[in-house]
Amino acid sequence: MARLTAALLQWYEKNGRELPWRGTRDPYAIWLSEVILQQTRVEQGRDYWQRFMERFPNVESLAAATEDEVLKLWQGLGYYSRARNLHAAAKQIVEQGAFPTTYDGLRALRGVGGYTAAAIASLAFDVPVAVVDGNVFRVLARYYGIDTPIDTTQGKREFQALAQELLPPKRAADFNQAIMDFGAMMCTPTSPRCDLCPVSTTCAALRHNEVSRFPIKSRKTAVAERRFSYVYIRHEGRVAFHRRPAGNIWQGLWEPLLVEDNTLPPFPGSLTLLRSAVRHVLTHRVLIADFYILECDEPPTLPDDYQWVPEDHLDTLAVPRLVERLLTAVNH
Ligand code: ADE
Repeated sequence: MARLTAALLQWYEKNGRELPWRGTRDPYAIWLSEVILQQTRVEQGRDYWQRFMERFPNVESLAAATEDEVLKLWQGLGYYSRARNLHAAAKQIVEQGAFPTTYDGLRALRGVGGYTAAAIASLAFDVPVAVVDGNVFRVLARYYGIDTPIDTTQGKREFQALAQELLPPKRAADFNQAIMDFGAMMCTPTSPRCDLCPVSTTCAALRHNEVSRFPIKSRKTAVAERRFSYVYIRHEGRVAFHRRPAGNIWQGLWEPLLVEDNTLPPFPGSLTLLRSAVRHVLTHRVLIADFYILECDEPPTLPDDYQWVPEDHLDTLAVPRLVERLLTAVNH
């Protein structure tokens, strides 16, 4: 067993996190936790996982839900395609008649990529396959001083092979969780705890005093800015909202009138600026939004898919977080 493997297992036994889904081998519970944790911190994800498990305790109940119900429960977590895929995959599983138990069977589910398939296969079924997530890239890149960029085909192949080599086949579940916890708690992106690290004496990056240089990426993420306005249009206690169509972000979520590039048309009634230049940061984009409220006696002409929603029903709609911020501004 490699020195790193032994050290990680030993560290994990003493310091691993106690997470509610670690007490189970239920593939549904594990799958749900992994999908939530893909873009969400453990502290926040824990509550969502609990709520999902209460409302949809098994794959059959999730498959029987409407997409609206699932999106509503997901609200606030962002990256809503995760929720839509989760729902679609639940239906796939129910149609197939059983939860897949192999890596390939899992990989064939909607939204389940190599990482998630490896996580479920190893944690629920003891399949000896290594997970590679951001934590694993970071720990291995630093410990071995690997210069291959992680966002390339070559890099992904190399790190997957290395993680697989380090994985002790009889302890796949422990090893995978050990290296992820170690990356999340010790070998962190910024301010890693090298002072407490059990393998600091053999870490290549630390030896050359270049821990912060790893892992290497070939591209910088381009962050584009988009400016627009939301107009909260109120007419006789109702507000104009529509459900965002397929093919763009926030698909299936609800929002008020959106005007691109802040070029507001003339409106009937009284228009008030509530907030200006609200910044909302997404992975590849920064949204900068102005929030308006329009009180009108005559309803303005709106695109066909807008509906007049009673104001006291708005909290039943699944909305993007930015629209939640608008609703908060309206109510204060
Ligand atoms: N991050 C995502 N999934 C995880 C897991 N199973 N253990 C530790 N960290 C994780």
